[in-house]
Amino acid sequence: MARRRISGSRVIVTGASSGIGRALVLELARRGAFVIATARREDRLADLAREAELLPGRVQTVAGDIASDATRQRLVELAREQWNGIDVLVNNAGVGAIRNFDRSSPDELRQVMEVNFFAAVELIRGALPLLQKEQSPLIVNIASILGHRGIPHYTEYCASKFALVGFSEALRAELVNQGIEVLIVSPGTTKTEFFGSLLAEQPGVGSRGAGGVPPEAVARAIVRAIERGKHQIVPNPQGRLLLWLNRISPRLADSLVARFG
Ligand SMILES: NC(=O)c1ccc[n+]([C@@H]2O[C@H](COP(=O)([O-])OP(=O)(O)OC[C@H]3O[C@@H](n4cnc5c(N)ncnc54)[C@H](OP(=O)(O)O)[C@@H]3O)[C@@H](O)[C@H]2O)c1
Repeated sequence: MARRRISGSRVIVTGASSGIGRALVLELARRGAFVIATARREDRLADLAREAELLPGRVQTVAGDIASDATRQRLVELAREQWNGIDVLVNNAGVGAIRNFDRSSPDELRQVMEVNFFAAVELIRGALPLLQKEQSPLIVNIASILGHRGIPHYTEYCASKFALVGFSEALRAELVNQGIEVLIVSPGTTKTEFFGSLLAEQPGVGSRGAGGVPPEAVARAIVRAIERGKHQIVPNPQGRLLLWLNRISPRLADSLVARFG
């Protein structure tokens, strides 16, 4: 488990225009990191860059859809030109949908998987040659509590996050001899724009994030985990409780999420 310095680290963060990604970029810049921040909304990225101007680090932005190969290639090319390496790659961009599976569509499932799973995997594939050049490189994948425990009405989202967690564990074991580490972050409910940006929703079903923690708290937990070389964190106390319950009594967890999930 490598300990890392944030100051001077070269970091790519996806999904940086709001929520956890935005807070993480600012926290990294506050600690002196060089960051390439990406998302689709250019105006939000411009605001972020302005806010970061007074901080010790440096923030550059790239606007684009992370589900597009061209955007991912641009990110890697920019990192190659500017830094000739990457210390930390953070796959944070994510979308959700809340509705009963029998009302969802194949297109919706594919869209969720494209952003939450395939985009992260393919950005890692593209970035690996640059990560491989570094002393203690790190891949950070922002999964979810729902990548460890399924809940009703979130079938597609849960599938995408379980896929990301499984991929990350396998990749971590595969890369151990190359010195590249993989950190899985599994937030619980966080107060962001996530529930306002759903791809699809069905009124009256599914919980929508009441009582979440602020994204700044999640961002600070991520930065601590990067510094300390952790492999897995669950930043929210409620999330830790659900995973603990699911481990000791999966049946009780089943009945609770069926009732309250
Ligand atoms: N909020 C929660 O309760 C919660 C809980 C567990 C895990 N998470 C995970 O945390 C991560 C961050 O979510 P958040 O809560 O911070 O939500 P958020 O505020 O909605 O942020 C999502 C980010 O992803 C970006 N994004 C979405 N689709 C994209 C696309 N096709 N191409 C490029 N960027 C895209 C959005 O930017 P643009 O729209 O500008 O592209 C935005 O910056 C996600 O992976 C989410 O699944 C959230």
